[in-house]
Amino acid sequence: MTDQSSNQMWGGRFAAGPDAIMEAINASIGFDQRMAAQDIAGSRAHAAMLAATGVITDSDAQAIREGLLTVLSEIQNGEFQFSTALEDIHMNVEARLKEVIGEPAGRLHTGRSRNDQVATDFKLWVRDQLDAAESGILALIRALLAQAEAGADWVMPGFTHLQTAQPVTWGHHMMAYVEMFGRDLSRVRDARARMNESPLGAAALAGTSFPIDRHMTAEALGFDRPAANSLDAVSDRDFALEFLSVASICAVHLSRFAEELVIWSSAQFRFVTLSDRFSTGSSIMPQKKNPDAAELIRAKVGRIFGANTALMMVMKGLPLAYSKDMQEDKEQVFDAADNWMLALAAMEGMVKDMTANRDSLAAAAGSGFSTATDLADWLVRVLGLPFRDAHHVTGSLVAMAEKKGCDLPDLTLDDMQSVHAEITNDVYSVLGVENSVNSRQSYGGTAPDQVRAQVERWKAMV
Ligand code: ARG
Repeated sequence: MTDQSSNQMWGGRFAAGPDAIMEAINASIGFDQRMAAQDIAGSRAHAAMLAATGVITDSDAQAIREGLLTVLSEIQNGEFQFSTALEDIHMNVEARLKEVIGEPAGRLHTGRSRNDQVATDFKLWVRDQLDAAESGILALIRALLAQAEAGADWVMPGFTHLQTAQPVTWGHHMMAYVEMFGRDLSRVRDARARMNESPLGAAALAGTSFPIDRHMTAEALGFDRPAANSLDAVSDRDFALEFLSVASICAVHLSRFAEELVIWSSAQFRFVTLSDRFSTGSSIMPQKKNPDAAELIRAKVGRIFGANTALMMVMKGLPLAYSKDMQEDKEQVFDAADNWMLALAAMEGMVKDMTANRDSLAAAAGSGFSTATDLADWLVRVLGLPFRDAHHVTGSLVAMAEKKGCDLPDLTLDDMQSVHAEITNDVYSVLGVENSVNSRQSYGGTAPDQVRAQVERWKAMV
């Protein structure tokens, strides 16, 4: 007999149990217990398949499948005693199953290994998170569409280099984020479709000599098909890397919008008012209302992309097939997933609740010579100037307005004609911001009609 303290799952060749430090570095139960439901679903599918293929008896499979449900409810009710000595969720569940149903429990691990088991569990977990991300992104897109629809014709400054560039509409700016999150949505869906192959039955690395039916377990677990190469199936963590990559890009988008909300909600901008529900106060400065949610969303990309980098480095250079290094995949993905979902929900809440300050937006829209391009375009269209000359004339007019301390529409016709004699009163028609945005009717442009068309297109899709 082996020493009592050696592992009951694999202790046959061991005379002694592990050092405490060995147990500490080796165990993953502290975190992989989050995959309990997936582990039990995988085992129940495996047991049913073992019976269907005649590898184990129906009555054993029945006992295993029912016993696993008992174990699941113990875990869900917080009654389960997790053991570090049993390393991970797979062995914790199996050991408890043995206590619950006795001898048949020992037949569950026929024709599989923890290597295909963990890959299956983790895929199922990541797949659930992709589904949650899809819902979160859809909800955020809907909140943005509501903002865009309400403010399709509200004028505001558009920026390049964070300098006033040309007037745009509030709806247009919201719809820019709809496009970005729409691409995130399609990346989530692509990733889900690509990862949906079952590793179960790849066993340790080479497949198994038992007459298993991998198509059956794949179907039972909602996979499209079994993964076609057993070595690849147990050593692939692309699905986790892709999850983190998709999450990272989406987190970048969230951070850009969060940053705009931080700027826009400041006393210097006053473009938006964030709701009390998504703001905090200062313990010392009574007047403060801080955009903490936006700041935290802005920061989340740090840990999410950090997880992406960390797992890329774990996987880099690993020889086939399974190596224990791969146990380091889960905490990164768990943390990134939690924070991605939270950031999506917080952003959706903020966008739903926030109020655009139309007057501040309109006042800012006309400042900073934002219709200078419209003036240059007028010189081209009406006077037939080459664009480069029109650019130069407009530049002189901007310099003049700057010197006088006024905006372009405040220059008199005499002022205008002193720079270019052929300018007429008609020029004032393009210097207003409303005219400016209305004129930008090119497909995807900022004109309210264009924005409304895009809102309708998206509403039909989400
Ligand atoms: N806890 C392990 C992990 O997360 C499960 C797979 C262990 N496989 C093995 N051959 N030791 O990767």
